[in-house]
Amino acid sequence: MSASPDETKLKAAVIGMPIGQSLSPLMHNHWFGACGLAGEYAAVEVAPKDLEKQLEFFRANHFSGFNITVPHKTAIVPFLDKFSPSARQIGAVNTVKIAANGASTGFNTDGIGFLKNLKEQAPGWPKDKPSLVLGAGGAARAAVVALLNDGVPMIMLCNRTRTKAQALADKIGRGQVTVVDWNDRAHAVAGAGLIINTTVLGMAGQEKLALDLSRAASDTVVYDIVYRPLNTELLKAAENQGLRTVDGLGMLVHQGAAAFKIWFDRDAEFDDALKAKLLAALGEGPTAEGQP
Ligand code: ATR
Repeated sequence: MSASPDETKLKAAVIGMPIGQSLSPLMHNHWFGACGLAGEYAAVEVAPKDLEKQLEFFRANHFSGFNITVPHKTAIVPFLDKFSPSARQIGAVNTVKIAANGASTGFNTDGIGFLKNLKEQAPGWPKDKPSLVLGAGGAARAAVVALLNDGVPMIMLCNRTRTKAQALADKIGRGQVTVVDWNDRAHAVAGAGLIINTTVLGMAGQEKLALDLSRAASDTVVYDIVYRPLNTELLKAAENQGLRTVDGLGMLVHQGAAAFKIWFDRDAEFDDALKAKLLAALGEGPTAEGQP
């Protein structure tokens, strides 16, 4: 990393590969300003072989901590000293705090962000019914742990590669996760109070998620953690059917706010100014939408 260390500023960063499109610098630098803190948050592209070296750089230069994104969320684990309960449960780390003495603690705020966004955008969502989770990657793990911790009675887990869903269910399912075949997903829709897409399907540049929602109950909530684009084909289909929907922007913001709190003990808000900046960065601003 080339940034020259400035001892008077608070410092944090996000590491990943690629990292160019990350919205985290925009978000955290907004919060430094909003909280009246002098600080700088950088995006650093780090290759897997350089992970440990990068951690050493952050330690030596007195960073308060850093975020971790694809593909390093599990690869970072062997290099850290301690873990929060949620990082242990999820088995992946998206936030590291570096103490004054250099000790590193791994946290996972993805589940917190996932749940806070759900509660904000769909208050009173049908929590007493099973949830249907599509996907079995890191995001699915965070969602499953968050939902089970929040008291959802049962999760139907459905992934293209069934063995990965089964492995996830066995590891973190507490006997409350049943695996559903990818080809049976339209049937599982019928019993679901909440349907969550954690796969990459529907993201810009990916195929859309083909999911027949016609069997959904009228109070079912459809949640897509994809935020590029914000209004995915899945969410549009759900809206067309009169179902409540939750988009992925709030999950991004709330996982970031939880990390900011861990590092700086300040409450970072999802205010209108931040929302406008994020929507503009995503090309989803009012002017973009208003174009004919
Ligand atoms: P993350 O950590 O962000 O959740 P990931 O671990 O790469 O990302 O997981 C991506 C998810 O998208 C997986 O559930 C993957 O399914 P597989 O386990 O079968 O790979 C899912 N996915 C990716 N491409 C897909 C496709 N074309 N059809 C269905 N699911 C797909």
